[in-house]
Amino acid sequence: MKSPTKHSLGGLPITNRVRGTILHCTRYQTLSKSINLSLFSLFLISPPIIFFTRNIILQEEVNNRLAEELMQEVRNQINDGIKLQRQLELIESIDRLGLSSLFHEEIYRVLSVLSLNNCKEVILCGLRSTAICFQLLRRFGFQISEGIFDDFMDGDHDAFLPTLSDDVIGLLSLYNASYMAFPGEKKMESARSFAEILPGSIESAIGHALDLPLHRRMPWMEARMYIDMYELEDGMSPALLHLAKIHFNKVQSIHQKELKHAGSWWTRLDLGKTISFSRDRLMECFFYVVGIVHHPDYGFCREKLTQVGMLIATIDDVYDVYGSLEELELFTQIIDRWDIKGIVELPYYMKICFSALNDTINGVANHLYLDDRLEAIPYIKRVWADLFKTFLVEAKWHKKGYIPTLKEYLSNASISISGHVILFNTYILLKCKISKETLQQLQDFPNIVRLPSLIFRLCNDLATSSAEQERGDVSTSIQCYMKETGASEEEARLYISMLINDAWNDMNREYSACSKPQFSQRFIDASINLARMASFMYQHGDGFSAPSHQIKGSIKSLLLNSISNNLYERDMQ
Ligand SMILES: *[C@@H]1O[C@H](CO)[C@@H](O)[C@H](O)[C@H]1NC(C)=O
Ligand SMILES: *[C@@H]1O[C@H](CO)[C@@H](O)[C@H](O)[C@H]1NC(C)=O
Ligand SMILES: *[C@@H]1O[C@H](CO)[C@@H](O)[C@H](O)[C@H]1NC(C)=O
Repeated sequence: MKSPTKHSLGGLPITNRVRGTILHCTRYQTLSKSINLSLFSLFLISPPIIFFTRNIILQEEVNNRLAEELMQEVRNQINDGIKLQRQLELIESIDRLGLSSLFHEEIYRVLSVLSLNNCKEVILCGLRSTAICFQLLRRFGFQISEGIFDDFMDGDHDAFLPTLSDDVIGLLSLYNASYMAFPGEKKMESARSFAEILPGSIESAIGHALDLPLHRRMPWMEARMYIDMYELEDGMSPALLHLAKIHFNKVQSIHQKELKHAGSWWTRLDLGKTISFSRDRLMECFFYVVGIVHHPDYGFCREKLTQVGMLIATIDDVYDVYGSLEELELFTQIIDRWDIKGIVELPYYMKICFSALNDTINGVANHLYLDDRLEAIPYIKRVWADLFKTFLVEAKWHKKGYIPTLKEYLSNASISISGHVILFNTYILLKCKISKETLQQLQDFPNIVRLPSLIFRLCNDLATSSAEQERGDVSTSIQCYMKETGASEEEARLYISMLINDAWNDMNREYSACSKPQFSQRFIDASINLARMASFMYQHGDGFSAPSHQIKGSIKSLLLNSISNNLYERDMQ
């Protein structure tokens, strides 16, 4: 690139580089017009980015210094011998505000003491503290038994004490905590049904809570929403709130840069134009990826995962809509054998898909040392090939009008939903050093991949059955179950919801302490976040194929609109 020369836009000088970005974003606008969000608005919201780059750097320094001070203040608050109940609430807020990685040490110190003495003192503080404690311990991977709720149950520990029904706040916490259940935990089951029967008058206040329990919400989205709620909470810590806002805006600006990057990749690739039917949903795809890994240090991971996601969506459309069965068989075989000579036989649009796939596969492994890279690439190719094989099976089922049994359907469908490919790539992208054993293990579809994929698929089916039917996709788990058992649609949906719940409980146990030393906490979080994203995206219909108003709003608040921070200005003076 040439050295920056002055250009003029609206009478104000800007540098070449920045102008390039604007042009780029205008082009990007066409890509994302389906959801009416223009990246360009980013620049309108924050004009200083364009015109006062130096001021921005200065501002960044000020914010970083401020954040350091605020962190120290919050640290003191955690350590300052405050009441146990207060300490737990503070940690809960830190976590919900998306700041737990900043206070990792403090949080683990407090929680390990609690888990060592089985939360004895916490139980004395009441239901709310006990429930928060339980939720936090499970969430951070400490051992804790459902028995800590015994004191709140009748003599046989069958039912919760009726007197607790007045304790709304405690019940809300209990409700959230009950979603951390392991399979077969009876007390947790009765906790959930007890907490669900909350008195009618407060129903709307908890409408949001009962919508999706805390444990099933996408953490970064929760952080954004909770910042607004926390501000209004009694006894909130202004330092913590201020820190959360600074942190959110900082991470958001990092995500924005990555999104621009992803936009230029997609434009260069030109797949969207070649395959005109493809869902140009880069923004949603990136949003999805942020839901899986939002931590600012993992930009490379997000960049590559976005590519992976876009390829999945595009090639999925090739199989669903565009390709003839012969073409699809050929394509599947060529990928399966990685038969480079065979490519000439493919139609043009499939050649482009192949080449994009090849680039992405190599790009994903690029950060590894040569030996590891050579080791990893065949595995990555294999998971893609496995994905396409299930796409092909479904395409054939569809062509034949065949409705499989639920079991047969799920054996393919929990792979064709692509969680396997996403998490396999995530594993490689989060690691500097891979191990062959773990790659092998991941390839064999272990629970840590299977369960979130299953949830992903079932949530998807619950939400998209009618839309997908219209588009001509294969039948979903709902139709399969109805045909197999003669159940009504309502019964089938209930059954599928139950399968989702069971999978969540299995997943909770899977993730509990020490069970998976070979996987990093980040990877485990990513895997559970995949299930959370599925719950979120499909909660109000199919968020990916037909993003609802609500989801568009979420994308805006997460990726486009920064949080105005009055406190900033005060501190700047
Ligand atoms: C449970 O969820 C509700 C609604 O989001 C929230 O107000 C409450 O603080 C949560 N409690 C716990 C323990 O997470
Ligand atoms: C796949 O990508 C690698 C690395 O970029 C390249 O060397 C190779 O030629 C590509 N293969 C095909 C068939 O395009
Ligand atoms: C998908 O279904 C086909 C046909 O029922 C079956 O042969 C195949 O094993 C299934 N694939 C997977 C990955 O289970």
